[in-house]
Amino acid sequence: MKRTNTCNELTAADNGKEVSLIGWVQSVRDHGGILFVDLRDRDGITQIVFHPEAANVYEKVQKLKDESVIQIFGKVALREDGTKNTKLKTGEIEVIASDMIIHNICDVLPFPLDDERADKVNEDLRLQYRYLDLRRPRNLNLLRMRHKAAQAIRDYLNSQDFIEVETPVLFKSTPEGAREFLVPSRTNPGMFYALNQSPQQYKQMLMVSGIERYYQMAKCFRDEDLRADRQPEFTQVDIELSFVEREDMYALIENMLKKIWKETLGMDIPTPFPRMQYSDAMNRYGIDKPDTRFGIELQDLTDIFKNSQFKVFANVIKDGGVIKAINAKGLSDITQGELKGLEDVAKTLGAKGLAFIKAENGAWKSPILKFLSEDEQKALREKLNIEDGDIVFFAASNWEQACTILGRVRLDCGKLLQARGKIKIDPKQFNFLWVIEFPLMLWDEEQGRYVSAHHPFTAPVPEDVQYLDSDPLRVRGQHYDIVLNGTELGGGSIRIHQPDVQEKVFKDVLKIPADIVESRFGYMLKAFKFGAPPHGGIALGFDRLVTILTNRPSIRDIIAFPKTQKGQDLMAQSPSQVTEKQLKDLHIALDMPERD
Ligand code: AMO
Ligand code: AMP
Repeated sequence: MKRTNTCNELTAADNGKEVSLIGWVQSVRDHGGILFVDLRDRDGITQIVFHPEAANVYEKVQKLKDESVIQIFGKVALREDGTKNTKLKTGEIEVIASDMIIHNICDVLPFPLDDERADKVNEDLRLQYRYLDLRRPRNLNLLRMRHKAAQAIRDYLNSQDFIEVETPVLFKSTPEGAREFLVPSRTNPGMFYALNQSPQQYKQMLMVSGIERYYQMAKCFRDEDLRADRQPEFTQVDIELSFVEREDMYALIENMLKKIWKETLGMDIPTPFPRMQYSDAMNRYGIDKPDTRFGIELQDLTDIFKNSQFKVFANVIKDGGVIKAINAKGLSDITQGELKGLEDVAKTLGAKGLAFIKAENGAWKSPILKFLSEDEQKALREKLNIEDGDIVFFAASNWEQACTILGRVRLDCGKLLQARGKIKIDPKQFNFLWVIEFPLMLWDEEQGRYVSAHHPFTAPVPEDVQYLDSDPLRVRGQHYDIVLNGTELGGGSIRIHQPDVQEKVFKDVLKIPADIVESRFGYMLKAFKFGAPPHGGIALGFDRLVTILTNRPSIRDIIAFPKTQKGQDLMAQSPSQVTEKQLKDLHIALDMPERD
């Protein structure tokens, strides 16, 4: 190689050695005629000293722009006492340069690369120059952590006798799940592949093949609206096993996560993880992925308001709905703007309003106070432990909507309280949680039919199979989600492996027409008739896992070349237009929406 050492290696023990280093010029400082260069590579920084006597290079160094790439030749020397830098591994020494090669002169940078200033730069600009943004040591380290986590996963699964199998990315359109990316087939005019949303069907076929233990760091593609924890292409730790039950899956994943946290952060995370039933998660946290790092749990007040004079609440109860509330302790200093924000959020979730009671200076303030009887007020005070400084929010609606509204208001109140320092969350706190006992089906009001809570391959809990026809909502699925700090890290299930049960779920429960079942899933139903083993699996969102592990606010931070909220790669500028000829070859004609 061109160098004798990295920029993070040389110590006092190397005093007097002739060395060569190569890297980026982080800075050039002039100390009374002597020039100091901080030379940086991916491992660290070494101080290089240029004396005027080294006339062949001295002039050139003076003019060097930051981030140019140079190679230096010189001798290691001890730094004088008082000039040692205990923060650097190489802080005891410097290299006295005698010669230099300039490999690349850096242009004027589009933004400064030190973390303090770069963090304030607009993200779009940083993504346009992602290769520079990544050059920042902190960002390079995020990729290193991602690598370490991936290695820990592979080490663990290999040690458990798993076989890594790659499955196709060009799959077939099965629009039951998320929206897909379509890929036209040139050799089959008018036909399309879909990029796989997950290797779900392939991994089940591998079980029929007898692989028994499969995993894959699988690229998945979903054309969804993007958020802070979503990307259109992302990586799953995809796992499937034969001859397993739910308990086997819990132990496997707990041990895998334990190993990841140990090998990346050096932390021992306690196992087994707590488990919570879906109905409890909804009742207490208003969401199927509870953030249990803080309280403010939902309370049910339906009993208190059964005979209320407040018609809004009484009518909802009469129609079979519920009254739920949270006490956001200490948030009575909420601003008008913040309150309006909460109301708006509640309304986007279908709320008719967001009634509240503020407790301040020994009195309650509330738009609904005049409707509440003495007894109701007393019962509220007790049940919600309302004290001065608190604010209580109410949702009156059907059970699911009331839970969902307050679940969201709870999270937002949590953020407001954190910003005020009234809730403190340790960045090294990791609350893992299994959410279990999901219903197999949910009723979809829009489509007027049942839809799978997870996906149509999830097996019902055996005792509940009898209700598949009569009362599908009563059937629990053998589905489990792994949740971390309020994020759904992964989900999976024990699968259906009997062709008759699978066919029944498709046709009788999900009401998918027979011809569509045949064209989309016919091969699967057939495969299950040729000796399909009982099997189950899970997929963990690897990008989400690394985001939380490294305590970053956005999934984009831990992906080398992420896409923006609009699904664009600002560096390479994709997506982009293609030529008429390309479209013609694919027999595609564009029908663009009219511009305003
Ligand atoms: P599911 O759809 O729940 O299950 O996906 C599994 C996990 O993948 C992650 N994930 C995402 N991460 C980033 N960006 C996205 N757009 C995105 N979408 C999903 C989440 C999620 O928990 N085949 C089943 C798994 C199984 O049953 O084995 C599946 O894909 O962390
Ligand atoms: P109204 O009598 O409709 O003006 O409502 C009185 C208060 O109750 C207002 O603060 C509304 O925001 C609130 N409110 C109305 N409907 C609901 C509901 N379904 N759940 C919670 N609060 C509501």
